[in-house]
Amino acid sequence: MSEHVLVADSDGVRLITISRPEKKNALTQAMYGALIEALEQGDADPRVRVFVITSQGTIFTSGNDLSDFAAATARAEGIQSPAERFPFTLTETKKPILVAVNGPAVGVGVTMLLQCDLAYASEAATFRTPFVDLGLVPEGASSLLMPAALGRARANTLLLLGEAWTAKQALEAGLLAGVLPPSELLESVISRARVLATKAPGAVRATKALLGADNPNVLDRIRRANAVFTERIASPEFAEAAAAFMTRRTPDFSNFS
Ligand code: COA
Repeated sequence: MSEHVLVADSDGVRLITISRPEKKNALTQAMYGALIEALEQGDADPRVRVFVITSQGTIFTSGNDLSDFAAATARAEGIQSPAERFPFTLTETKKPILVAVNGPAVGVGVTMLLQCDLAYASEAATFRTPFVDLGLVPEGASSLLMPAALGRARANTLLLLGEAWTAKQALEAGLLAGVLPPSELLESVISRARVLATKAPGAVRATKALLGADNPNVLDRIRRANAVFTERIASPEFAEAAAAFMTRRTPDFSNFS
């Protein structure tokens, strides 16, 4: 477990809270490992029927921790990292996952919503997937699921252009099930999770599976995206983007071909 991922069970609902507000809830490999453990343990525990994922503070997550990410990938070449494993875990989790997006969501903070079952956001949330801006590619199955869920044109404004969406835009596009005032968000999502936790658990799991949660195309796309993402992490383009972020300057790709 990581000190930055908190787990609390009550009334059949496992609340998983990402808690690293001082780094804008950026996800390290250790945090991905803790998220995987919390989901796998909960899926195997009959007392847990529904998951809720949220974050502490005013941002949902700034995505992959850019410094930890490159270092961990270099260390673990040939071995699946927790970040690579995470989209598989989301696919394999049999119980429903609700998300309370409490503020800006960047990168995986957006792509994970496509693999969760119901996402609600605060009016203050924004949605941005700047993979190309970082010299990277869309992670997990997002290059498959996002055009399918939102339409190709809308998906490309996020995945190619890296535009930022408001919560209202994300709701209208179908990424979200609802938008709520910040003060009501978590309570409202937990109360929906509690309702779901009282329903016939076998029927809930079977419905989730029929809705396509374990689609083999998704698993195939995650494998392909992981392979390309690993190559991109080792690229000079990502090195330039990461260095630019750390030194608070704009990346310069003018000399790349
Ligand atoms: N990886 C590593 N560190 C991160 C991070 C990330 N993804 N996001 C934020 N941080 C760190 C900053 O380096 C800073 O650390 P410091 O206090 O030691 O200098 C701290 O978190 C606060 O971030 P800061 O950028 O000062 O906050 P902000 O409110 O001005 O901006 C964001 C918030 C989310 C807009 C901005 O941090 C950002 O764009 N982060 C990177 C997003 C990204 O590209 N993610 C990768 C997607 S694959």
